[in-house]
Amino acid sequence: MCPPRFFAVDYVINPWMDPTKPVSADVAVAQWTELRDTYRRLGHTVEEIEPQPGLPDMVFAANSGTVVDGRVLGSRFRAPQRAAEAEHFRRWFVEHGYRDLTMPERINEAEGDFAWTGKLLLAGTGFRTDPAAHAEAQEVLGVPVVSLSLVDPRYYHLDTALFVLTEATDTTPAQIAYYPEAFSPGSQRVLRRLFPDAVIATAADAECFGLNGVSDGRNVVLPVEAVGLGAELASRGYEPVYLDISELRKAGGGPKCCTLEIRK
Ligand code: ARG
Repeated sequence: MCPPRFFAVDYVINPWMDPTKPVSADVAVAQWTELRDTYRRLGHTVEEIEPQPGLPDMVFAANSGTVVDGRVLGSRFRAPQRAAEAEHFRRWFVEHGYRDLTMPERINEAEGDFAWTGKLLLAGTGFRTDPAAHAEAQEVLGVPVVSLSLVDPRYYHLDTALFVLTEATDTTPAQIAYYPEAFSPGSQRVLRRLFPDAVIATAADAECFGLNGVSDGRNVVLPVEAVGLGAELASRGYEPVYLDISELRKAGGGPKCCTLEIRK
């Protein structure tokens, strides 16, 4: 995670960003600190990277790498305003002993568009990640990749429209939640086929970034407004944990965007 000490909305690269609206880095840091402390309280280890001046979106650490079995695929951003972030995160991985690290040739916004189910890497495209990056991820990470097309600009990254609730094991399937309307008709059919028991989110769940949740298989961190989705998850045995992420949402991000999950 990256504390948002230099948080701002200075440019527009998604429909949520409005530079004419006031934003507060202090409020962003306070909300982010709650998120980090929630993970720690739930028993998870959180490591931090130093934020950099001039990179206001660096708080969205999910966009900076994909780690499966200790193997790292770095990122390459579509927007020039974010391009320099990739090198800071690459250095973090190197300094923290990740030897098996590949920087991509194709545009790939990492866990913004890649979701690991335990068996498959679900990969979004349409707004940010180049479809050719899906094949590159498959080759570098050595895991099967399933391409999904995003069609609604508000849900420009896969992680704004879908998240994994429980990873698959050898004997149990993965469980996911998603908002079907964010996907092309063909991708909706793929999702129905792969995940017949998925939690289907509503427009209201999606609009508050409810699909940008983070689940450890039991506790699910959600934006405080995502009460409909939270109730549905509770009925399936999960424990919703609600947080205020309103300041970060002004840049088009939520809990997951702030969180790069490292699978050693
Ligand atoms: N302002 C950032 C961008 O548009 C937000 C990124 C949110 N990250 C995410 N994983 N969805 O790139």
